[in-house]
This record gives sequence, structure tokens and C-alpha cells, in this order.
Amino acid sequence: MATWSAPGKVFLFGEHGVVYGKPGIAMAIRPRVFVTVRRSRVAHHAKSPYIESCFDEMGVRGSVYVNSQLPSSSGLGSSAAVTVATLAAINDEFGKKNSLEEIADMAFAIEKKVQKGRASPTDTSVSTFGGIVLITGTSRRRLAPHNFQMVIGNSMVSHNTSKMVEKVADLKAKSPGICNPVLDAIGALTMTAMHHMTDPNSLGRLMNMNHALLEVLGVGHPAISRLVLASRAAGAYGAKITGAGGGGCMVALCPKHLKSRVAGAIEACDARAIITTLDTDGVRKEKDV
Ligand code: MEV
Repeated sequence: MATWSAPGKVFLFGEHGVVYGKPGIAMAIRPRVFVTVRRSRVAHHAKSPYIESCFDEMGVRGSVYVNSQLPSSSGLGSSAAVTVATLAAINDEFGKKNSLEEIADMAFAIEKKVQKGRASPTDTSVSTFGGIVLITGTSRRRLAPHNFQMVIGNSMVSHNTSKMVEKVADLKAKSPGICNPVLDAIGALTMTAMHHMTDPNSLGRLMNMNHALLEVLGVGHPAISRLVLASRAAGAYGAKITGAGGGGCMVALCPKHLKSRVAGAIEACDARAIITTLDTDGVRKEKDV
């Protein structure tokens, strides 16, 4: 039996742009997914296309138990965390010798297959390696850690990443003259953010701009807009959709002393708040339960 865990993630900048090779910055966060794998001739596991694909990819059969602290379909990368932790647990339980790099690549291939061809390696890279990661196309660079004080607001409106990615693809096909400059601007503000990683006021302003650009792409949702506006009014430096949008979660960058106030403002909108910060650990082995 082997138990491994992997962290969730928030996109600080660049979701959707990353699908088209633009740069994006994402950060691992504390809520984790725990996966226990046990050898067995009969497969016992949840009917998840991600988990099925992990076993197929590794060419083995076994049973799985998943214990997630991450809400699913919310934009916090729970499918990537399940995939990465499952691959790492299979790797350990069956004595395979895949490196972390190979696990990240395999997890990305699985996400891409399940998401019908359109996905960036962001979620799977962050879940595998932890920390803050700059993604550009298929390359990843780990950035210096920063103790960002974040509050996540979960609108509890379930969303579907593939549908949202499809929606942007449709807009890009139908209105390239509008969509392409917006994707370029998202990439440009990610690169600008790289020069302001120690300046929360500037980062907050850039997050607000990124949110507006995501709304232009059509991935906003009234419930998320409410949380974004409530967080800013409660004193956040900035707030935006995180992940695919169309529901799911938003993230606010906050002064440390205002985190509880921002969380309260989010909860007053009938949403769930998660106060969190960076997790520098990626996928890791846990004690068996
Ligand atoms: C989903 O968390 C973020 C998207 O950019 C899709 C992806 O990066 O695979 C919308």
C-alpha cells in the first residue's frame, strides 16, 4: 500500500492564455489530495477517467482510495492533483522508477487526453513540483517563493474546464481580431507581474486587469464577480477568477491583517472562503493510513 498527496493550485495570472502558449504564473496551495493505491488483481476505484488513465498509462491494476481536501470542479486543480498523486502512488506501490519529471509529463498527457486535446501543463506541473511556477508553452520554471497572503472564494457554482476552454476556442475561431489581442494582453500582464513579485499593490492591480480580460473572453460568472467586488471592497490588493471560470473559484491577494475581513466578505455572499498561502511541497509520500 502507498499513500501520496499532491497540492491544489491557484492561477495568479494567465489562465486560458497558457492554452495558447502565452506565459502564466500559478502557485501551489495548502489544500491537498491524498491517494492510497494498493496492488490487487481486481480494480476497485471511483469511475474517474483520470484515475483509469493513470492505471492504463502505468500498465498495472490495483485499488485506489482518494481523500480530497480540494473541492472538485472549482478551478483549484483537483483533477491534476488526483492524477499526479495517483501516478506517484502507483509508481511507489509497483516499484516503478519514474522520475518526478516523468510523472509530471504523464499527468499532463492524461489531462490533455481527458480534456480532449486542449490543456496546458500548468496544473500538473504545480501539483508535481509545488511552489510558484512560470509556464510558457510546455516549458516550466520554478520561481522564487513568496509568502503571498491569499483568500480563495469558492462560488459553489460547479464549472467544467473543458467547456470553458472550448468557449474560448470558439471565440478565437469566430472573432480572432478581438480574442487574439486579449490573449496577448493576458500574456503581457503575466510578464509585467514577473517584475513586481515583491510589490503586492502592483500585483493586485494586474490581477484586477487579468480578471477584466477573462470577462472579455466570456468566462466570467455573476457569482464570481460578486466575490471579486466584495473582496476588493474589503481591502484586497486585487482579486480575479482563478482557473477556467464560468463558476468555480476566485482568488484575492490581501494584506495579512485583512485576510479575515476579506474571508468574511466572501462568506457574506453565501460562498466558501479558504484562507491560504504558498505550499512549497509538490507531490509527496505520506504515512499509510
Ligand atoms: C484551468 O485551471 C486553466 C486553463 O488555462 C486550462 C489549462 O491551463 O489547462 C483554463
